[in-house]
Amino acid sequence: MTASVSAQTISTPTVDIDALRAQFPTLHQEVHGHPLVYLDNAATTQKPRAVIDAISHYYEHDNANVHRGVHSLSERATQRMENVRNTVQRFINAPAPEQIIFTRGTTDSINLIAHGFARAFLKPGDEVLITGMEHHANIVPWQQACELSGATLLHAAILDNGELDLDDFQRKLSSRTRIAAFTHVSNALGTINPIEKLIGWARAVGAAVLIDGAQAIAHAPVDVQKLDCDFYVFSGHKLYGPTGTGVLYGKREWLDKLPVYQTGGDMIREVRLEGSTFAGIPHKFEAGTPHIAGIIGLGAAIDFLHAQPWAALIEHEQQLLAHATKLARNIPGLQIIGEAAHKACVLSFTLENVHPHDIGTFLDFEGVAVRAGHHCAMPVMHRFDVPATARASFAIYNTFDEVEKFINAVESVRKTFA
Ligand code: ALA
Repeated sequence: MTASVSAQTISTPTVDIDALRAQFPTLHQEVHGHPLVYLDNAATTQKPRAVIDAISHYYEHDNANVHRGVHSLSERATQRMENVRNTVQRFINAPAPEQIIFTRGTTDSINLIAHGFARAFLKPGDEVLITGMEHHANIVPWQQACELSGATLLHAAILDNGELDLDDFQRKLSSRTRIAAFTHVSNALGTINPIEKLIGWARAVGAAVLIDGAQAIAHAPVDVQKLDCDFYVFSGHKLYGPTGTGVLYGKREWLDKLPVYQTGGDMIREVRLEGSTFAGIPHKFEAGTPHIAGIIGLGAAIDFLHAQPWAALIEHEQQLLAHATKLARNIPGLQIIGEAAHKACVLSFTLENVHPHDIGTFLDFEGVAVRAGHHCAMPVMHRFDVPATARASFAIYNTFDEVEKFINAVESVRKTFA
């Protein structure tokens, strides 16, 4: 199939995508003899040269442990890592740098909170409310927390178009709800949830609110004070930063009273063989040597993004999604899973008579990288009665030409399997 709208007729004139792409080394390679078309950005984004250089620079010049040494390298490494706390604070408009906890990623951040709730704030009769569109990382830790504490886990349903059933969400909130934990953007459907509304409703019944921002953080500015959420968590690697890095933002009153999670070095005030006391935030939650190089890389990723015309790039991403969606609808037998009115850059789909894994493998032969599977969101697959989907997800550096290559490759799959 030839794409019905040519790449020339739609462009984002204020953004020089070629110049942007030039900053991402990984994008410039061939896969199976074709130029790589990387459309697996919801799984992880590629890294700009600035991030790679920041990590190399740290290992080449500053490598030392943090918060421990009085020598120059250690002081430099500490300074560089702590500067990133300020960078992240400004990035999400947190009130203070110590409310930024560095973690290994979104999963780690949610486990920290769920563990604390299970230990200190949940008891039989209490409820935790999630939604049916959560990533496993925002389901399983709450299942464990409820199992340990005797609390009950509820979930709000998804409508047929992939939007959250807001009435069901409201119905399931009550004075028993201790925490409502939900995603900002669904990784499997692309749905952007109306989180301001959800936060307001949850706060009105006295529940704490945790937002899983893993899929949102790279696609729109986040202001945690304006949102008035209790926790906002995300991963560095979906934000053009390194894997193994993540952030937990929390309101001070919660971080102060939340019990410690991992324990050991760097998180203590005093240790005696009879017992220990703990540091204040943020160090109380950062046991052991952190991923110093990764955190420095995360800071470089945020600085990189700030240097771009981000608003125009967000608009560009939305145009890519709209173009891909329009072309995909013309492919016979293709079903889009997730057609919410407000979507981030995710196009999940199935193709009649073709297993999503075969779609993924076939597209790879054409140089097109998409994810195929349950996307760590099995309940979403069950809800839509599919074993899996193929998923294309877009980022700031993707082009209309890539969208059309992807669509043409899907059309070839359809013809091959017809
Ligand atoms: N959570 C990531 C995804 O959706 C890995 O692909």
